[in-house]
Amino acid sequence: MITKTLETALNKQVNRELYSAYLYLSMSAYFETSALKGFAKWMRVQAKEEQMHAMKIYDYVIARGGKVTLLEIEAPKNKWASAAKVFEDTYTHEQKVTGMINGLVDLAIREKDHATFEMLQWFVKEQVEEEEQSLDILNQITCIGDVPGHLFWLDHELGKRE
Ligand SMILES: [Fe+2]
Ligand SMILES: [Fe+2]
Repeated sequence: MITKTLETALNKQVNRELYSAYLYLSMSAYFETSALKGFAKWMRVQAKEEQMHAMKIYDYVIARGGKVTLLEIEAPKNKWASAAKVFEDTYTHEQKVTGMINGLVDLAIREKDHATFEMLQWFVKEQVEEEEQSLDILNQITCIGDVPGHLFWLDHELGKRE
C-alpha cells in the first residue's frame, strides 16, 4: 500500500507525463507544417515515450493498491519561431521534469517508501538521457544554422528514430 500523499503525488506525475506527451505531439504537429518531417517523426516517437512513462507510474500505483485518478491535461503551446526554439523548450521542459522526479524521490524518502524510491530510480536515469538528447539536438541545430534549408540533413537523421 502507498500513502495517500504518495498516491496524490504519483497521480500528479501521471498527468505531467501525459502533458509531456501532449507537448511533444504539439511540437510534432508544428514540424509537420514546417516541411521537417524527420523532426515531426522524432517528436511523435518522443510523445509515445512520454505516454509509456505515464503508464509506468499508472501501473505502479495500481500494483501498490493505490487509486489512479486522471486529471485534466493542460493544452500545450502550438507555435514556435524555429526548430531551435522547439528544442530550447524541450530542454527546459525536461529539466523541469527532472526537478519533479527529484521531488518525488525526496517524498518517497520522507514517507520511508523503499519500493517507490526504487521505482523512481528508473526515472532518475531516464531524465539524464532526456536532458542529454534534447541538449545534443539543440546544439546540433545551433551549429548547422537554425534555418530550414540547413536542417535537411538533421531532419533525415532524426527521421530514422523508431
Ligand atoms: Fe517522461
Ligand atoms: Fe521526457
